[in-house]
Amino acid sequence: MKNALIKTVALLPIFTLLLTACNGAKTSTNSTANSNANTATSNVIPIGIAVAQTSNVALLGQEQVAGAKIAEKYFNDKGGINGTPIKLVFQDTAGDEAGTINAFQTLINKDKVVGIVGPTLSQQAFSADPIAERSKIPVLGPSNTAKGIPEIGDYIARVSAPVSVVAPNSIKAAIKLNPNIKKVAVFYAQNDAFSKSETEIFQQTVKEQGLELMTVQKFQTSDTDFQSQATNAINLKPDLVIISGLAADGGNLVRQLRELGYKGIIVGGNGLNTSNIFPVCKALCDGVLIAQAYSPEHPGEINAAFRQAYADQFKKEPPQFSAQAFAAVQVYVEALKTLDQKSKVNKLQLPALRTELNQHILTGKYNTPLGEIGFTPIGEIIQKDFYVAQIKMESDGSKGKFTFLK
Ligand code: ALA
Repeated sequence: MKNALIKTVALLPIFTLLLTACNGAKTSTNSTANSNANTATSNVIPIGIAVAQTSNVALLGQEQVAGAKIAEKYFNDKGGINGTPIKLVFQDTAGDEAGTINAFQTLINKDKVVGIVGPTLSQQAFSADPIAERSKIPVLGPSNTAKGIPEIGDYIARVSAPVSVVAPNSIKAAIKLNPNIKKVAVFYAQNDAFSKSETEIFQQTVKEQGLELMTVQKFQTSDTDFQSQATNAINLKPDLVIISGLAADGGNLVRQLRELGYKGIIVGGNGLNTSNIFPVCKALCDGVLIAQAYSPEHPGEINAAFRQAYADQFKKEPPQFSAQAFAAVQVYVEALKTLDQKSKVNKLQLPALRTELNQHILTGKYNTPLGEIGFTPIGEIIQKDFYVAQIKMESDGSKGKFTFLK
């Protein structure tokens, strides 16, 4: 059944597929015509967005939806793909692997997108990306930072710099803030691929910096009670606590460490990199250090436009997860434009389009809100600028922000 569908699909010109994906009612009349129905209004290029719109993981995924939608409007206002608009097709992955596999299959086989931005978690990527790889459809990970993501296959790349590049920066910033740090307690979520990968880098950096790793405490991303792990760590009197987890669990752990009396610096990993942890740890989020792969202050026209569009809508500075999602959509747009100048994308059959698009993605250079980025031949991001931010909360815990350290 699936093979038959794929073969049928392969025979159809791409513009017919695009119509099928985006305008079911019109498709039945237009798709048989195989004619000049690909006008600017009916002809759009569908790009799939498979991130967590529900579940706890939506604390990160909602920010990705926001960044992707800003990119869709921004690039369509600028003429889309040489006159043809893009259309983002959203499929909610929720927080697990099964939901992600479903979302990917729907985008690939039903929505017939040219490529996918997603998923939110590395844990989900390790399950769903191989499906895209087998279907030969490009995937751009917008936030997957675990070791080994681009290595999943030829069609898998990411705009999210890996833990090995990002994570050490926050420990170095902690040492700069308090040169007397010696004893370190590390916490990580053992049921999450990214958290396991990030903690390896954190633990390695602790040793490289000559610090003493007192204890490694494990938890689950679904946990809400961290009393026993937090007490175990606090009893060893650490000067630095480092957490690799996701937003809800990470925020709760920060809160409980402080409630139990821990006074030293806390470093949070990439899974805590969202203001959506503020309602979880409230005033007790204050002071947490988190490394950043994006700064709202990054110079240049495209970041200024992105920052303004985000601020107009959300009345705050854009977060890293939104900026990375914007950058992922931008990479598709610019790679599609280059490809379109060579061979019109609405004349290419979908399998050829996906394959050629993948090649163009990997060889392009992109001036994004993250700075100038490119890819290694296996799809690892090449990015120059990284930062560390510290959370500053109002004393009543009602509001907070990320302040970037110099
Ligand atoms: N950076 C986190 C991950 O890779 C969100 O899962």
